[in-house]
Amino acid sequence: MIERINNLTKVIEKLTAKNNEEIEALRIKYLSKKGEITSLFNDFRDVPNEQKKEIGQKLNQLRNLAQEKIKSLKESFGNTSLTEQDLDLSRPCEPIEIGARHPLSLIRNEIVDIFSRLGFALAEGPEIEDDWHVFEALNFPAEHPARDMQDTFFIEKNPDVLLRTHTSSVQTRVMTTQKPPIRVICPGRVYRNEAISYRAHCFFHQIEGLYIDKNVSFADLKQALLYFTKEMFGEKTQIRLRPSYFPFTEPSAEMDISCDLCGGKGCAFCKHTGWVEIMGCGIVDPNVLEMCGIDSKIYSGYAFGFGVERIANLKYRVKDLRMFSENDVRFLQQFKSSH
Ligand code: PHE
Repeated sequence: MIERINNLTKVIEKLTAKNNEEIEALRIKYLSKKGEITSLFNDFRDVPNEQKKEIGQKLNQLRNLAQEKIKSLKESFGNTSLTEQDLDLSRPCEPIEIGARHPLSLIRNEIVDIFSRLGFALAEGPEIEDDWHVFEALNFPAEHPARDMQDTFFIEKNPDVLLRTHTSSVQTRVMTTQKPPIRVICPGRVYRNEAISYRAHCFFHQIEGLYIDKNVSFADLKQALLYFTKEMFGEKTQIRLRPSYFPFTEPSAEMDISCDLCGGKGCAFCKHTGWVEIMGCGIVDPNVLEMCGIDSKIYSGYAFGFGVERIANLKYRVKDLRMFSENDVRFLQQFKSSH
């Protein structure tokens, strides 16, 4: 017995292992229920009483030695003993936070989605434009105040190059390149030379709609806008069209929706009128059709345009327009659950 213990002690002292699996195999070999050291303990029962003290001590020392050895082998490996299966280099080191969509993108997507159900396709145009696409082709007389330096950002060296002040320039681009029937929705960023405050910015976002076909009437326009309003703001919301003026539409109108804050009764938000203005619209002036190469005797059309920030404000009640472009994550994260 003593010899077996001594031999095993020497073996244990020299134990080595290449990885955690080998260490585990050693532990099983020596220390598990059926392990070699455990079986020595079983045999200990048969040791004569006068030897029990001495052998018992040696046996305990052997077991402690084996336990210490296994422990130190494990420690010496640390994490480097990971097998290929354990090692996944593609695993993120920290949990990745999922970002949120920007509120203006959420609103834009919702609007585009609503109009696509009415058959409107998406169209886009450049933000840096020329005078003809933004003004001239849209019937703006040369002296029209919208052309004034205060409203428009011109390129100093070449005043024919400017930042578009409205997405109506995309109308011009579509009409000059496509043949009717045309049914497009054009979202995009626009620029105006305004002092930046809580309710105005030098850039904002618009969505333009254009429909050109035979026999398009004001009734078609009204129906499309009513559908949009109810989808966007709810079944109860009402619309009101007021006569207005835009150089490129005749007749022109401005559309109000009933204030959903007070239900139309009148409150501070709607300036006690019960209505909030949301867009401009009208029947495309035949002159504009002709300038863009569309025969106004055969075709007619309607157009509308509105600000995305305005719609987002009605939905989310954001008090300061500047928050949309400051990229403060505390603001942006509030829209996380929206989609
Ligand atoms: N472009 C106009 C604006 O920026 C809006 C509009 C678009 C009006 C289409 C009528 C038709 O104010």
